[in-house]
Amino acid sequence: MQRKKIVFDYVIYMGLEELPQTDRHLMEEAITAREQAYAPYSGFKVGAAILLENDQIVLGNNQENASYPSGLCAERVAVYQAGARFPGLTIRAIAISSASEHLDVNKPAAPCGNCRQAIAEYENRQLEGIRILMMGATGPVYQCHSIADLLPLAFGRSNLE
Ligand code: THU
Repeated sequence: MQRKKIVFDYVIYMGLEELPQTDRHLMEEAITAREQAYAPYSGFKVGAAILLENDQIVLGNNQENASYPSGLCAERVAVYQAGARFPGLTIRAIAISSASEHLDVNKPAAPCGNCRQAIAEYENRQLEGIRILMMGATGPVYQCHSIADLLPLAFGRSNLE
């Protein structure tokens, strides 16, 4: 028998102002995207901004549907758009911003399990970590170095080879 432990470290910035300039800009783009989200059912709006290796930014936001499961999260809208439009380019970072019409979102909402799986696919494909920045409508910003930290023991390509 063997016992293993997985630990990961992440950084907490006390607010948007504390971020390095390029990350602050990326989060501001996520906030702009968030404001355009289509979330009439939950009132929970999420924006995602992806920074590519050529400094281009790809945006996404959640798109809800009257048939609830047909909707899609902001992170997947963004990552699939990046995959479709810029298939060869490395994704350096994703900034995620969340806000609600009903709640005071003052701490980051981490990507859901499905989005972690989707982002992990691109991280594995490019063999380079994707930094994840997360923030609520106000409050601190969390930064993870890699989606693998948020999805330990993930199912991936290697399971099919
Ligand atoms: N949502 C996201 O866009 N990203 C996440 O990681 C979690 C949840 C959206 C989906 C839905 O439109 C709303 O937030 C409430 O769950």
